[in-house]
Amino acid sequence: MTESKYTGSENILEVRGLTKRFGGLVAVDNVDMTVKKREIHSLIGPNGAGKTTTLSMINGTLNPSEGTILFDGEDISARSTDQVAKMGMGRTFQNIKLFSTLTVIENIMLGGFCNYTKGGLLRFLINFRESSRYEHEMREKAEALADFVGVYAMKDKVVSDLPYGRQKMTELGRALMLDPKLILLDEPAAGLNPTERAEFIDIMMKVYDGGTDLMLIEHNMDVVMNISNMITVLSFGRKIAEGAPKEIQKNPEVIKAYLGSEYKPVI
Ligand SMILES: Nc1ncnc2c1ncn2[C@@H]1O[C@H](COP(=O)(O)OP(=O)(O)OP(=O)(O)O)[C@@H](O)[C@H]1O
Ligand SMILES: [Mg+2]
Repeated sequence: MTESKYTGSENILEVRGLTKRFGGLVAVDNVDMTVKKREIHSLIGPNGAGKTTTLSMINGTLNPSEGTILFDGEDISARSTDQVAKMGMGRTFQNIKLFSTLTVIENIMLGGFCNYTKGGLLRFLINFRESSRYEHEMREKAEALADFVGVYAMKDKVVSDLPYGRQKMTELGRALMLDPKLILLDEPAAGLNPTERAEFIDIMMKVYDGGTDLMLIEHNMDVVMNISNMITVLSFGRKIAEGAPKEIQKNPEVIKAYLGSEYKPVI
């Protein structure tokens, strides 16, 4: 295992009192959570527990109703998705979000684009030489990532023509374009067959070994229990438990709210 590339805070993420209300519904209710550097942290819980909403507040897709989010020690509570991405937070989505009419390589390249806007989009458009050099660099990087996530052979195909598993890999490739410190993965193994699942885990572990911390939402307990150092459990928007996989699997409240009495520990 390699050391983290970053030295700021000892925690990559700290969430305090995080709350999201949708009208009368409290989707996330006063959640505290700390993700340490060099940790694979999973967020689990029943459908509708508020997991995706939590991730969306963390990466700026949704504004919190209340609470504070620190990313590598910096307060990002009011930052936009683009700002948070530039600071080094990548994300993949429960329902894949790719541009379906663009090719695989174009989709991966787009993951790097928000980094360019430092000089302004206008500068990009009028300065052809600089923009074409930049595009060339991005294409090279995207090709290397396409190879890394196993979609190089289909890089020029329109993404909607790819099987579901390859689309998920493409999305991971896009999230890697900005060399993230942390990647948030929303149900990365859902819809994958066992071979694809094993491949995805293998790639995620390589990403982790390269120095990127991981936080994932996942319903597949084989995946969660085997790769996580720490697990946070949500139910009806509230944190009901937090701990190492061995503890979480025997926690009566987690068994009652989520795992079920038939659950057999996998580790
Ligand atoms: N944009 C929204 N507007 C209104 N209600 C929402 C919105 N997004 C989520 N919700 C509600 O908030 C609650 C939490 O949803 P969320 O998607 O975060 O759950 P989840 O834990 O990710 O569930 P799943 O495991 O099914 O993906 C649900 O009751 C959901 O219907
Ligand atoms: Mg969800």
